[in-house]
Amino acid sequence: MKVIYIGNPILRNISESVEVFDDDLKAFVKELSKTMYVEDGVGLAAPQVAVSRRIFVYDPGDGLRVVINPEIISKSDETVRMEEGCLSIPGIYADIIRPSAVRIHYQDEYGRHHEEDLTDYPARIVQHESDHLEGVLFVDYLSASKRAVLKPKLNQIIKESIR
Ligand code: NI
Repeated sequence: MKVIYIGNPILRNISESVEVFDDDLKAFVKELSKTMYVEDGVGLAAPQVAVSRRIFVYDPGDGLRVVINPEIISKSDETVRMEEGCLSIPGIYADIIRPSAVRIHYQDEYGRHHEEDLTDYPARIVQHESDHLEGVLFVDYLSASKRAVLKPKLNQIIKESIR
């Protein structure tokens, strides 16, 4: 499995829901997880390996979590500033403000439904990864001035990505 970079239009797709929870799905989740650990990421969404489906995996430091068909059903009014990076935007890190807590509904690789309240790092990762399923990247949140500063670096990644 290969991680694709910003500039690849697949990252901008709206991903499709998972309807079938079969062995192929479990094999895909296993490969996606392996790729996340090999690439030293804390989260990896299916679109980042060029698969437009609503699946991501993450590990906030205490073990692997599999998230399928996620829905953020509520967000805290309180926000927090936290530095983010992304395996699809290598070498770029920036402070992003997001809600500090979220409640999510999702399914696991067996199709079982879960609802969870997340705070801190898990809440942050889940918001970042859920964005990937909507074709949104964290750099989209940057102010024009911050974007301008990062533009040469971003353009370099985009150039290499579409070559
Ligand atoms: Ni990312």
